[in-house]
Amino acid sequence: MDETKIDWAQRSLAELATHIVAVHHGYCRRELPRLSELFAEAVKESGGRYATLADLLAGFRRVSRALGSHLLKEESILFPLIERIEAAQEAHTPPPTLCFGSVGNPIRMMVLEHSEAEVELQKMRVATRGFQPPEGAGPKLMELCRTLRAFDDDMTRHVELEDQSLFPRAVAAEQKALG
Ligand SMILES: [Fe+2]
Ligand SMILES: [Fe+2]
Repeated sequence: MDETKIDWAQRSLAELATHIVAVHHGYCRRELPRLSELFAEAVKESGGRYATLADLLAGFRRVSRALGSHLLKEESILFPLIERIEAAQEAHTPPPTLCFGSVGNPIRMMVLEHSEAEVELQKMRVATRGFQPPEGAGPKLMELCRTLRAFDDDMTRHVELEDQSLFPRAVAAEQKALG
């Protein structure tokens, strides 16, 4: 399925959240361990020839660690909440009452975490001139750069779907359900 051909504005928030979890969270869970292995192999292969690799690995570890809990928070707290808000709006019943106030509060937290990941990814993009392998790179380092670029592209799309579609629509649905 080519998600860019889907008009997400016409789909329910529940469908969009399910799609994000299946496609983008699934991608992270598959690719983060693979990237970790590729880093180890590329470090071994290059034998300390590329100083940037250590910085790249440190940045990747920060993103990977932060993403682990970020995905869980979305899946176990925020997305189910968004589905309940949408259901309340459709049923013309009051939105769920939350211990943390409006849904805008956990959303702000997730948006902040997206920005933190973006700062790390931007540093990695700059250091590698868009994930280009250095001159004389071996096959593992080439594969690492390719996989990092694909990961970066997927993150861009993932964050765009949440920040520009799912989250603002959830805030609007809560407002509507509040009447
Ligand atoms: Fe997500
Ligand atoms: Fe997110």
